[in-house]
Amino acid sequence: MKIWAHRGCSQNYPENTMLAFEKATSLQELTGIELDIQLSKDGQMVVFHDERVDRTTNGTGEVQQYTLSELKNLQIDAENGKIERIPTIEEVLDLLEPRMKKGFLLNIELKNSNIPYLGMEEKIVDLVYKRGIQKSVVYSSFCALSLERIRRLDQKAEIGMLDTKVSDCLYKVQGGCGANALHPYWQGMDLPIERLKEYPIRAWFGGHLYPEKPTGTKLDITLLEEKGITDVFFNEPERYVI
Ligand code: G3P
Ligand code: CA
Repeated sequence: MKIWAHRGCSQNYPENTMLAFEKATSLQELTGIELDIQLSKDGQMVVFHDERVDRTTNGTGEVQQYTLSELKNLQIDAENGKIERIPTIEEVLDLLEPRMKKGFLLNIELKNSNIPYLGMEEKIVDLVYKRGIQKSVVYSSFCALSLERIRRLDQKAEIGMLDTKVSDCLYKVQGGCGANALHPYWQGMDLPIERLKEYPIRAWFGGHLYPEKPTGTKLDITLLEEKGITDVFFNEPERYVI
């Protein structure tokens, strides 16, 4: 089973922050990091999950209503009174690029199923090529049309179709959305393993995020493998790998 850090180490540190990504890079057995991108009002790619800034920052309103410099003024509470800021994808790549050139993977989720963010596909594919890290990137989205655009831009890209049920992921992949991998919710494995054998299946989880307390539970990975899951995105990967 390949273990990924979902929004970085997002159980013990604020999600999608440099702190959460730095903690993830200290895990030698980790396969990669997953993060979410959106566009600011002035077209800059920022790493942020919700379409609104309210849940994790001291601001209010939509990401797309803020320029990058305004987003940088927002504060994200971290441990011991420290403050994190919303990172740009460039800042995260500055951290990860040396390790990515040695095989560490980055799953970039385009967070565009509610807000279309015109041109985001071109921006991210251009940046990934400019940095020469295309072999270490997995793109994903819940928006099949966005993945179709990524495929047109990069014939060789690794692309995962996000959905809740694995059958819906497969339906969209077979329908020509351009993805080659299935990214279902871990409890959405509603097809027999025989139908899934040719695909990477990277499963995501809901659940606890910083500053909620960890539940202390540890999943039995073999049960996930038996369903055909090849990779998992965990909020607390440090519970599974060193
Ligand atoms: O990529 C898997 C997972 O991140 C999708 O859901 O809401 O955590 O972005 P979400
Ligand atoms: Ca995500």
